[in-house]
Amino acid sequence: MKQVKCVVDKDFYVGTAGTELFSSFIEHLGRAVYNGIYEPGHPEADSRGFRKDVIQCIKEMSIGLIRYPGGNFLSNYDWKDGIGPKDKRPVRLDLAWKSIETNEFGIDEFADWTKECGAGIMGAVNLGTGNPKDAAELVEYCNHPSGTYWSDMRIANGHKDPHNIKVWCLGNEMDGPWQIGQMTSDDYGKKARETAKIMRLVDPSIKLVACGSSTTRIPTYPEWDRTVLEHLYEYADYLSLHRYYENEGNDDDFLASFYDMDSFIKTIAGTVGYVKAKTRSKKQVFLSFDEWNIWYMQNQTDHPWQKAPELLEDNYSLLDSLVFGGLVCTLLNNCDMVKMACLAQLINVIAPVMTKPGGGIFKQTTYYPFVQAAECAGGKVLKTFVNSPEKETPMYGAVPGVQSSLVYQEEKGVITLFALNSFNNDSAEFSVDLRSFGNVEFLSHSEMSGGDLHAKNSFAEPQKVLPREAKTMPVVDSAGKISVVFQPLSWNTVKFRVK
Ligand code: AHR
Repeated sequence: MKQVKCVVDKDFYVGTAGTELFSSFIEHLGRAVYNGIYEPGHPEADSRGFRKDVIQCIKEMSIGLIRYPGGNFLSNYDWKDGIGPKDKRPVRLDLAWKSIETNEFGIDEFADWTKECGAGIMGAVNLGTGNPKDAAELVEYCNHPSGTYWSDMRIANGHKDPHNIKVWCLGNEMDGPWQIGQMTSDDYGKKARETAKIMRLVDPSIKLVACGSSTTRIPTYPEWDRTVLEHLYEYADYLSLHRYYENEGNDDDFLASFYDMDSFIKTIAGTVGYVKAKTRSKKQVFLSFDEWNIWYMQNQTDHPWQKAPELLEDNYSLLDSLVFGGLVCTLLNNCDMVKMACLAQLINVIAPVMTKPGGGIFKQTTYYPFVQAAECAGGKVLKTFVNSPEKETPMYGAVPGVQSSLVYQEEKGVITLFALNSFNNDSAEFSVDLRSFGNVEFLSHSEMSGGDLHAKNSFAEPQKVLPREAKTMPVVDSAGKISVVFQPLSWNTVKFRVK
């Protein structure tokens, strides 16, 4: 058995895991919107065409913000196509995903839908084919109370109260050759700065997210981030990070994805620090990891033009959920800098929830680690010193075999330990001294593990892979020392009550 030692003190923490750390993303892509969240005629649809079974499922996820409307779709999208009477809205070609966009669903429908889900909105403005004026008009449409052209248009369209969207992304992945309107970092920095200025003139209270590198694998990483920040440091509140992981043929590398994500965050945090010093700024720009997930990238354009094609419908395995859990720990452990993070995406498209047109719904394996972590929103992520035996990986060299995070929810009096044991054949005994919290008692230990790493949930077997109560109980001694055993290749959520 591997031995892992962790040192922690109740008064020392990294930061608070705000609800925005458990955000997500809906793009006009595949069946996310059409035949996903919006399916008029479905037996579960309400009078607006929103599927109530989907809303219920999303409510249970306690999502902070939902980013919308893209993604690559954003960079050739005119938000004005998606407002007003539905029969007057133009049908367009969505060039990003080779799809037919009917525009039946736009910003007003999205605002109504997120309200039902109990989530906020992270808006986004098109900086590909769009311009600063379009962006400012969108903020006016959404946030200005009344008495102007665009705010009165919103009211005429049935929304007396402003949508009050307080966080906006300045474009999407503008460094990527696949992006409509790709720019150099200098060109993007200037365009984003002028867009930020005019948007803030409309509503000074908004927070803005500048595009950082769309992946660590792009040749311009991390120089892009430095240049963009030098143009935008005083205008942006956040810099975005995007990163997807997939199994590229070696399970050990895949399981170590948390390690790669951590180094990405640390690099960009360092870049922010450099530009802050260089520009002699007193303000702090934070990070928005507004696209992260596991994604098995296949050909996206090999289909005829159609509405809502089945795209990016990855079906996640137990192994994927373990990797996902490791990434969740990394986001938590960096919550001093990463204030927002969007699981990309939410329904049908690389999603934790899948729907069948006219039919049912099921939760993927990755749904569970997300929900377990989101339940800890508002908690303090404790500063931990962990000594874990290492594991050799071809891609990253030696990495900790156990990745963990500890969250303390003071008001509830609950401490939650999250841990991925990525050792293939060894259990790991995790020892932590919780003496500084006073008396603690064990509450629960849920575990995702099992013989078949490739097991998946599906419409036919929606509950094949679930978190289950662990068979072994942790040992809690009278001095507050705890030791808990993690099975080989397992994702663990262990809760203790502070008495
Ligand atoms: O989430 C899928 C796509 O991944 C998004 O549209 C884009 O921003 C990223 O490349």
